[in-house]
Amino acid sequence: MSHKPAKRSLTDLYRMKQQAIPVAWVTAYDVPFAHAAERAGVDMILVGDSGGMVQLGHPTTNPVTMAEMITLASAARRGAPNTFLIGDMPQGSYEPSPRDAVVNAMRFVKEAGADAIKCEGGQRQLRQVKAMVDGGILVMGHLGLTPQSTASFGGYRVQGKSRESFERTLEDALALQSAGVFAILLEAMPEEPAAQIARQLRIPVYGIGAGGKLDGQLLIMHDLVGFYQPFRPWFAKCYLPQVARKFADYLDGAPDLKHLGRVERRDGLLVLVEMAVAEYVAEVRSGAFPGAEYSYPIKDSELAALRASEKWLG
Ligand code: KIV
Repeated sequence: MSHKPAKRSLTDLYRMKQQAIPVAWVTAYDVPFAHAAERAGVDMILVGDSGGMVQLGHPTTNPVTMAEMITLASAARRGAPNTFLIGDMPQGSYEPSPRDAVVNAMRFVKEAGADAIKCEGGQRQLRQVKAMVDGGILVMGHLGLTPQSTASFGGYRVQGKSRESFERTLEDALALQSAGVFAILLEAMPEEPAAQIARQLRIPVYGIGAGGKLDGQLLIMHDLVGFYQPFRPWFAKCYLPQVARKFADYLDGAPDLKHLGRVERRDGLLVLVEMAVAEYVAEVRSGAFPGAEYSYPIKDSELAALRASEKWLG
């Protein structure tokens, strides 16, 4: 575990891409988890609208409001003042008009202290994305499985496996890049189509459940520490079993447990979460995560059909 010297800048993120250093980032929605993430050395924090599910108990991300997101993002910012922080535009906050998109994105920046925002969708949201970029806001695109529109996908389904889905995602990604997004997040795609899309872009492409050949990995904090009971995506890894022994050894090795608790307040959950996140960061950097175990497979026949697309290069 280490303290980060300074908040990542866009230049840092682009340099990391050039140097093939994978970016490790997590979601956080409150002070303690954001603080633990910052201490563990994550490169970025996403205040996702997943917070509506894992933190606020909604059954999906759809009911989440802008007001709830500002409360969550402000708390995360207070917990992690030195980490590049991205606010996630909730459903209904950007689709109605470019003006709505700019006004709500600005709320993340001005009220919550966010460095950037993320929104779902490709060509359908291009006017909104352009307006936010023109407004001076750093925008990250989100393609693949986009939870706000799961109804139109027929549920939480892996994307990019069919030729149509791959080509649409690639076209969306290229359009978002032209509109000026600084990066794209791909969710729930097999490694090969995700990597093919990343190869055709000059901006960083990060993944959550999209294989290991991208510029970085995102994980939902509550999956990382096993704190969400109703559901865990197949690609999510819980790091608690891996660090439980280390935490026990740390406590065993403390010369004065009372001092560790009462004076340093380093005898509990904060340290355990920090250890779990630090383990995740180390595995992302080394390439150990996600590996085949936490990546979606694709059949040879499906991959052959994708490779036959005229949009598949190389
Ligand atoms: O809300 C969120 O955390 C997200 C991730 C699932 C990508 O958008």
